[in-house]
Amino acid sequence: MKSKFAVIVILFGWFIVIAYMIYDYDNYGSNALRHFFVPEGPAEIFFHIMILSALVGSIITGYLINERKKLLDKTQLSEKKYRHAAEEWRATVDSLPYGVMLTDNEFNIIKANNYIADLAGIPIKELTHKKCYEIIHKDNKPVDCCPLVKLIETRRAEAVEYYDPDRRKYFLTSVSPIFDDKGNVIAYSHPLIDITDIKQKEKKLTQSKDAFLNMLKDITSAYKELRGLQHNLIIAFANALDAKSPWTRGHSERVTNYAISIAKEMGVSEKDIDALWIAGLLHDIGKIGTYDIILEKPTKLTDEEFALVKKHTIKGEEILSPIKELEGILPIIRSHHEKVDGTGYPDGLKGDEIPLLAKILCVADSYDSMKSDRPYRPAPNKGFSLSELKRCSGTHFDPEVVEAFLRVLEKE
Ligand SMILES: [Fe+2]
Repeated sequence: MKSKFAVIVILFGWFIVIAYMIYDYDNYGSNALRHFFVPEGPAEIFFHIMILSALVGSIITGYLINERKKLLDKTQLSEKKYRHAAEEWRATVDSLPYGVMLTDNEFNIIKANNYIADLAGIPIKELTHKKCYEIIHKDNKPVDCCPLVKLIETRRAEAVEYYDPDRRKYFLTSVSPIFDDKGNVIAYSHPLIDITDIKQKEKKLTQSKDAFLNMLKDITSAYKELRGLQHNLIIAFANALDAKSPWTRGHSERVTNYAISIAKEMGVSEKDIDALWIAGLLHDIGKIGTYDIILEKPTKLTDEEFALVKKHTIKGEEILSPIKELEGILPIIRSHHEKVDGTGYPDGLKGDEIPLLAKILCVADSYDSMKSDRPYRPAPNKGFSLSELKRCSGTHFDPEVVEAFLRVLEKE
């Protein structure tokens, strides 16, 4: 039994019955119990019923009082738990490093945490029922960037970033409806996060990225300028080399054009075509070290003189070898007079031992030489040059290169 009062009421009921039983025993002795259950006359019947009713009533009343007490205790316990939970939630929400508000659809603040109170500079108790736009935005109407405005209009919740010029801070805010058991919106949860640090870091990152991109542009532009300068220097150098003799004027440029046409016909990569462009223009750079008198000799060269001329391939390689950027073209320069049957110079390489680009350059070089005047002979006709290419295909020249060149010449 939880309630003392209930016990007293029940005892009181029993007290009346017992008191009457004692009274009855005094009057009727051993017949008292019989007299109680078989009363004499209507007055006694009524009186006995009243006595029994008092007992039953006291028991029922005591039971009800006890049940009420239990219910009260339960309610008080629930209220205590609820208060405790609410305090825990309040402490948790207040400790959040960002703002949280609950508002109704009229923008009235229902609840807010300490962060919002600190931000607004208003005691937390005074925030309730104030308009959120007055507190947060210091405005007298809802602001355009408010996600609650958008949610009410479009039924779509979106996160919004905005800058608060008064507080000099960036905020990220959003809104989510809170529903009751029947699905009705009872409030809107409205978080407010200070993202100033993130925005500043983002800004610095963007600045760094822009600076890096600008630097990259400058480097690209400088690289292009440098590459243009390198190309122009190579052309100027080739022209200077060819200008040494009236017999070779324009030779390097023509050889380069033929070689690139053949390479493209054979499907050579862009990188190799770039290398071939430089190698074509500089292929005879080694002749700088050869006596002009030999190169312009109007009669057939002696064996000793030809041996001197043949050295231009190795000399060319030696001249260019200190330039690291040109190391890829050194084998082309060295081997552009090799023949596929191994009778060429300087190394007597055969077939596939000769780099493909050198074999292409060899065909282009020979074709231009055969087509041009030389101090020791006039230029043969084009038909002769073509027949020589075909005749020497497989001995001097790589047959695939010759075939590609013939296709090029046919197209022209
Ligand atoms: Fe040469």
